[in-house]
Amino acid sequence: MHAPQPAQPDSAAGRTRPRTLSFHLFSFGLGIVLPALFFAVFIAVQYYASERSRLEDSLRSEARALATAIDREIVGVTTTLEALATAPALKRGDLATFYQQAQDVRAEQNFHISVRDLSGTALTATRLPFGGRLENNPVEVREIDRIAIQSDRRAVSDVFLGLVTGRPTVQIVVPATIESRREYVVGASIAPEFFQEVLQRARLQDGWLATAIDGRGVFVVRSHQHEEFVGKKAPPHLVNAAVRSAGLYEDRSPDGISSVVAYDTSQLTGWRVIVSAPVSIIDDALRRSVLVVVGLGALLAVLALALADVVRRRILKSVERLQTAAHSLRDGRIPPHIPTPIKEFDDVGSILVGAASDLRSRERERDLAEAALKRLNENLERRVEAAMKEQEHAEAQLRQLQKMEAVGQLTGGIAHDFNNLLTVVIGNLGMLRNRVAHLDDPRLIRNVEAALDGAGRAAQLTSRLLAFSRQSPLQPSVVNANRLITGMMDLLTRTLGETIQLETELSEHLWRIEVDPHLLESALLNLAVNARDSMPEGGRLRLCTANVSVSEALAQTFGKELQPGEYVSVAVSDAGHGMPPDVKARVFEPFYTTKPVGQGTGLGLAQVYGFVKQSGGHITIDSEVDCGTTVRLYFPRDDRAEGVVAEGPPRKGVPRVVADALILVVEDDPRVSEFTLSALKEAGYRVLAAPDGVAALQALQDHRGDIRLLFTDMVLSGAMNGRTLADEAVRLSPAIKVLFTTGYTQDKVLAERRREGSAQVLSKPFDGIQLLNAIAHALDGS
Ligand SMILES: Nc1ncnc2c1ncn2[C@@H]1O[C@H](COP(=O)(O)OP(=O)(O)OP(=O)(O)O)[C@@H](O)[C@H]1O
Ligand SMILES: [Mg+2]
Repeated sequence: MHAPQPAQPDSAAGRTRPRTLSFHLFSFGLGIVLPALFFAVFIAVQYYASERSRLEDSLRSEARALATAIDREIVGVTTTLEALATAPALKRGDLATFYQQAQDVRAEQNFHISVRDLSGTALTATRLPFGGRLENNPVEVREIDRIAIQSDRRAVSDVFLGLVTGRPTVQIVVPATIESRREYVVGASIAPEFFQEVLQRARLQDGWLATAIDGRGVFVVRSHQHEEFVGKKAPPHLVNAAVRSAGLYEDRSPDGISSVVAYDTSQLTGWRVIVSAPVSIIDDALRRSVLVVVGLGALLAVLALALADVVRRRILKSVERLQTAAHSLRDGRIPPHIPTPIKEFDDVGSILVGAASDLRSRERERDLAEAALKRLNENLERRVEAAMKEQEHAEAQLRQLQKMEAVGQLTGGIAHDFNNLLTVVIGNLGMLRNRVAHLDDPRLIRNVEAALDGAGRAAQLTSRLLAFSRQSPLQPSVVNANRLITGMMDLLTRTLGETIQLETELSEHLWRIEVDPHLLESALLNLAVNARDSMPEGGRLRLCTANVSVSEALAQTFGKELQPGEYVSVAVSDAGHGMPPDVKARVFEPFYTTKPVGQGTGLGLAQVYGFVKQSGGHITIDSEVDCGTTVRLYFPRDDRAEGVVAEGPPRKGVPRVVADALILVVEDDPRVSEFTLSALKEAGYRVLAAPDGVAALQALQDHRGDIRLLFTDMVLSGAMNGRTLADEAVRLSPAIKVLFTTGYTQDKVLAERRREGSAQVLSKPFDGIQLLNAIAHALDGS
């Protein structure tokens, strides 16, 4: 069985489309790398800005420092010049001494010294030998000399071309007094290179450019290409850009190079000190760092992607293995252990495998349970079927039993009434025969004999019917069935004829039973005749006896008809044509026969059935068409000695009469009573008659001690029956004898008494001889 396919995600429900693992991992990598890159760029920009402002600050302070340094140099020169100007020799006009002093200073300093008058003529100069005069100094010199004398303080010139050297020069002058006339100056002629030292001392950074421009916009000094530019006019934008004493701006040269420019002003000279650096310095740094950041970022991204790819492969591998496992699960196979490089997947795999084997074992359990259930069901069905069959069988048995009961009651009732009638008929015919015997009329005698014969056969029929309805007057005794059968062998051989082979199989140590031996003989004869009839061509007939212990289980198979216990079975088997089931079901019914009219009455098995039941036994028939039939009779075991039960009165023989004994006859049927009374009177007995129990009791009291015998029917009209009447009679006169007569024998108390020998019974119908024999027997017996 396959699990149902999972439902496709419903896009209408707003769920995002599922993406591949690679997509998720790539997004994850980008999600980490991109912000890092942005952050790095942000840092780089910040860095650039701070570098720029740092550069600007450095440039500004450098410009300031250079301007101050230039002023300091100028102050130094000025101090030297003032010392010379105040020298006593000069004041006296002693130029020779002064010249010597000036040459001493010149030897230590890097500039030439001269003394000039207002006309611009040098009175003495260290550049010249003493006594040499220099005339016509340039106008710039004369101008500065004039300013110094007028202001009476030092003055510094712009750059001009020196008279002697013809090279750019700067003059620093201080006023001097010679011979009390303050109309002279002492000047120092300084080459601009003098200031280069200042720039050098400043140790400018690489790429920086420092420049000083005088008041007219001419280069005084440059840190680079000084020679090329000194004394030349600076480009106007450089001059004009500086609008304050100090400041900063960005400059773009004609060839497109941008620079950051800082400027400041020398306080003593008014020169402009300019320090610049190309923007490319910081741009390069920025570019470098951006490059580094971008490079690093790219490297990181590549690394991250590579790592993500490795992770992706591992996850994919794990997922694939899990998928494979899931597929084999779907196909009903248990996957083996699923090794994956990722622990969590490994765990899921283990859970899957565990769940699969759980599922498998549960499936196995379920299959087992289903199989067990199926077996149970089949068992149950079989048992239900068996129970139903058993039930049907029991019901059929019950129906059969009830039917037999009903038919028995009906036939019993009819037979009983018939018995009374027959008693009258036979009794009177018997007396009639005695009378006609003296008349010597053979025809009359024949008529009476024929009537007696008919009545006798009717009595036989009635007794068979009574036997079926279990109302045969039984005269049971303890019997050994083997002995009884052996005693019957002659009779049987004669009855069965030569074509039938008779065999017996008699069990040794057979238990004894209590039955009416005559009726058992008659039953066996019936069965033997049936067997013979089923084998018209002749065959074998077997008579078997056996001890049978009927267990609870065996009793079940007999239905309710046989209690568990010990029985003797007597079986009659033939190899005849057998019976089909529909015949077998009806054979016990009285008058049921398959034999042609006149050959069978259908009362044989009915009689056997009634007799067996009445004896507390059971009868079974096993029959198979064309194979044969076995009829088996069961009788309860009885351990008492054989023949213990008192024999009934002899059935035949010459009647004896106990002289003039007084007999009380109690009979509610007037015709039976009349026949009985006349038969007894004729035989010489004295008789009293009573139709019911009350009248009988009265007679018993009236003739107490005189009545020798009470002859009473068991069934009486009125409240009393024969039994209670007999009890009362014995109470009144204990010596009285009792003889019962009845058509029934199901009275248990009567049967018990008879077994004990305390009651004698004459079965109806009876003739005169039977009556007289029974009466004599009862009067004799004690
Ligand atoms: N041994 C047997 N083999 C085959 N059928 C039998 C056997 N015993 C009895 N039957 C059948 O049972 C029927 C009834 O038997 P049952 O002895 O009650 O009456 P009957 O033999 O027909 O007449 P009756 O015995 O009164 O002369 C018989 O007609 C016969 O069909
Ligand atoms: Mg028969």
